[in-house]
Amino acid sequence: MCDLRQDFPFFENNPGVVWLDNASNTQMPARVIDRMTRFLSQENANIGRGEYPAAIKATLEYEKARETVARFFGCEAGDVAFTFNATDALNAAAEIVGGEVLRDGANVIASRLEHNSCILPWMRLAEKGGAEMRFIPMKNGVPDIEKIGDIVDKNTVAAVITAGSNVTGWRAPLDFICRTFAERDIPLIIDASQAAPHEFIDASRLAFDYMCLSAHKMYAPTGAGVLIAGKKERRDGIYRVGGGTVAEVNEKGFTRITGVRGIEAGTPNAAAVIAFAETLNYLSDLGINNAWESERKTADIIREELKNTDGINVLCGGEEPLPVVAFETEFLSASDVARLLGAEGIAVRAGKHCAHIAHKTLGVEATVRVSAGIYNTSDDAYELIEKIRFLRGKYGKR
Ligand code: ALA
Repeated sequence: MCDLRQDFPFFENNPGVVWLDNASNTQMPARVIDRMTRFLSQENANIGRGEYPAAIKATLEYEKARETVARFFGCEAGDVAFTFNATDALNAAAEIVGGEVLRDGANVIASRLEHNSCILPWMRLAEKGGAEMRFIPMKNGVPDIEKIGDIVDKNTVAAVITAGSNVTGWRAPLDFICRTFAERDIPLIIDASQAAPHEFIDASRLAFDYMCLSAHKMYAPTGAGVLIAGKKERRDGIYRVGGGTVAEVNEKGFTRITGVRGIEAGTPNAAAVIAFAETLNYLSDLGINNAWESERKTADIIREELKNTDGINVLCGGEEPLPVVAFETEFLSASDVARLLGAEGIAVRAGKHCAHIAHKTLGVEATVRVSAGIYNTSDDAYELIEKIRFLRGKYGKR
């Protein structure tokens, strides 16, 4: 694989920086930035609301982006709603599904490795309706998926499960999970924010209700997310209402337009959506499987080398995890490690990574998280390890 960093202006403008915080935010290829700039400087108009040429062109490009997303994830354009980020998509999914199914005594299943954005919308809804969250038990540091059947009962009304943990990199067996909930007719929401940048998720083969993800973790700008409806009837869910979502309004009420566009209330971030489509084209042109394999190798080196370093506890990511590695050290706090690495030009994240229950479950206060992307190399991995070993030598026990 050639050095992909040359495609990403960030690295030319920040020479020497090793970007290992991809689970939080990725850098953008030049062609994506160019596409966004072209939209803003030449094609800028509100979409779906004008009859003049710029508005027609902007609408066309926005709808083309929907088709590109659909092609990338193996679904139909009519299944793809744009949101502002994955959190927005997860809130939409919770509100649409929750509005239908929540009642007193109900329960909602989640894994203990969920991002807060998966759990909080449900907790808020459940509090109002007297429902409870139920968490899949853990085994050897990962969710014991086989045990889902033990915690599901006749009052289980929904499930929200990550396709891949943003802390440990654990990858969920999506086929099994989708089948388990589909067989019981329980609506399932998948958080693909972390997995989608690293592997092909084929929506056509998976029985879910909604799948959620963010563009900015897939080498696109912030401000765009995706909600994929896994069933035709899910296209008509009601989330926020407002401009663009209604067919008719009168003094007595309104009727919703049909289809996923009814989920997109108000003016969307068209520039980010159109840039996201360009990113997906870039990834498709790249031969993405090689890039994905390379980022996994980078993370494998990091994981193994860290495990072989005294004073470091690497959290278990299970079998073939995403290229995400979380660890704590005996010699420095997580935030000190991240700060000192940052000062040396290595970007990693420290803290709970918006996954409080995961940290509590795994018995750690805070972790340093290293997450690889398609432009990272084994050199990045070894540079990180060298700097961490230097910190251990300086601050660790002698
Ligand atoms: N959800 C992002 C992360 O895990 C921000 O860092």
